[in-house]
Amino acid sequence: MMKGIILAGGQGTRLRPLTKVTNKHLLPIYKWPMIYYPLHTLIDAGIKEILIISGQDTLPELIDLLGDGNDFGVDLTYRVQMVPGGIPHAIAVAEKFVGTDKFLSIHGDNIILDSVQSHVELFKKGKEECRLVLVETTPEAAQKSGVVEFDAKGNVKGFVEKSPNPPSQWVVTGLYMLTPAVFDLIRTFKPSGRGEIESTDLYNAFLQRKTLAVSKLKDGWIDAGTFDDLVTTNRYMQEHFEKSVFAPYAAKYSKG
Ligand code: DAU
Repeated sequence: MMKGIILAGGQGTRLRPLTKVTNKHLLPIYKWPMIYYPLHTLIDAGIKEILIISGQDTLPELIDLLGDGNDFGVDLTYRVQMVPGGIPHAIAVAEKFVGTDKFLSIHGDNIILDSVQSHVELFKKGKEECRLVLVETTPEAAQKSGVVEFDAKGNVKGFVEKSPNPPSQWVVTGLYMLTPAVFDLIRTFKPSGRGEIESTDLYNAFLQRKTLAVSKLKDGWIDAGTFDDLVTTNRYMQEHFEKSVFAPYAAKYSKG
């Protein structure tokens, strides 16, 4: 059975003081706290066992909100990431939980409006060790994200993180489909100059091993990591919620 993990740690420094006493992933996005969206992306993909990872100080709030998962029809487990050491560092916290299963990792601040079921099915059957989900964005969004560099034939050549001159507008979303091979790889990564293990190390490692595949979303991806993103995301969800993959779940919950 495939498992799921949600990365809900980090310090949310770009959103202070909103995140001074509240975990970023609890901030409101239209009808739901932010973390409900990635949680429901996993639920919609048919995942039943989900691990939530966050810092020691904020994990209790997430437990208060989500409980054992029974309300959502899933089984939730929680683990502490003792220091916000970067995205691969957070993924490494899931090693025991994942065991020998394939799994989906999603950033707690990513909102994906479309169903990802078809991409997950490809990954379940495929031989790749990592499938990244890409989406074409604006040049401004590309500057704030991990971006793919393509060769002349359109194959993935490399990845660049938060560059003022991104090589394309194809952004790597925070939904990674992974096999347990990722854990040995992460052990070989060294923290960068800013003291974090970088997500591009992870993307590039699978590219070098030639075990990387990519899926492309049609549209409808938002990363709610900054003030402007938060406002835009709220407005966007107000307009699009009812037509999104999330609406049927919200209707179900409101009936109690
Ligand atoms: O959202 C997609 C982008 O996510 C990718 O395009 C980038 O390649 C990738 O580096 C990442 O960039 P962000 O700037 O959005 O990463 P952020 O620091 O916001 O972390 C993403 C999520 O991971 C966030 O919801 C909190 C969680 N996190 C982050 C860190 C650094 C943790 O759980 N632990 C951590 O140590």
